[in-house]
Amino acid sequence: MNFENFLKPRRKKQEKDQNRIDDIKSKPIPKHICIIMDGNGRWAEKRGLPRSAGHRQGVEAIRDIIKITSELGIKYLTLYAFSTENWKRPKKEVETIMDLLVEYLNRELDNLHKNNVKIMTIGDISLLPRKVYEEIEKAVNKTRYNTGVQVNIAINYGARSEIVMAVKEIARKVASKELNLEEIDEKLISDHLYTGGIPDPDLLIRTGGDWRISNFLLYQIAYTELWFSDATLYWPDFSINNYFDAISDFQNRQRRYGGIETRKDG
Ligand code: FPP
Repeated sequence: MNFENFLKPRRKKQEKDQNRIDDIKSKPIPKHICIIMDGNGRWAEKRGLPRSAGHRQGVEAIRDIIKITSELGIKYLTLYAFSTENWKRPKKEVETIMDLLVEYLNRELDNLHKNNVKIMTIGDISLLPRKVYEEIEKAVNKTRYNTGVQVNIAINYGARSEIVMAVKEIARKVASKELNLEEIDEKLISDHLYTGGIPDPDLLIRTGGDWRISNFLLYQIAYTELWFSDATLYWPDFSINNYFDAISDFQNRQRRYGGIETRKDG
């Protein structure tokens, strides 16, 4: 095979991807996408591999998704990496996920920084193993002034405990007279969540075929469009084409926010 023939399929794919990017960019772009990356364990089990192999492959899938999110000009991407309930998993699996987080940040940080990506976390990171906490701090500090896509990694995150935290903080402010009861409104509550200052997600994607929210961003997704993959699409197999499909699907929906008129903004 000569070199030209070798490159042809790759060029064709790049062209196809570019066409889909152009098509999506010609319509209202979501500002914030959040993803429940489910199915790593089943992906591995289906192949007779340990669950850790599924998590490892799951991390690989993240790179392309961040790249495309950035190319599309989407400002925020929130990834559910580890929930407050995930501590119930076997100790070894928890360790694998923590190690992968450290490895990912260690390996990808320079590249993310070069691409102007800003890393943030949501969740109680103070309870994470020290090496994970330190690696996160390093990534957040290094990328804090970046102006490209903001990637929020949800770690030790649970929406109900986030709401409890916000309620306690607001109650404390009321008790100390820093706040009046009348000042409590929807925006004030939003501002006291981990996602304070970040617009609510426009689109929530869940792979793996389950139709549930699993304690993710409960307050923030009041008017979010939901996209659930079919049961055969596990996170490690989630490709940029699947991502394009989910975003195109979102762009064809009518968002009415409880009213009757279509709003054209993402
Ligand atoms: C869900 O699959 C996946 C998780 C609970 C962990 C996701 C974590 C990563 C991909 C690694 C770290 C993330 C970043 C941002 C670097 P599952 O184990 O629940 O799969 P199953 O439903 O098939 O059992």
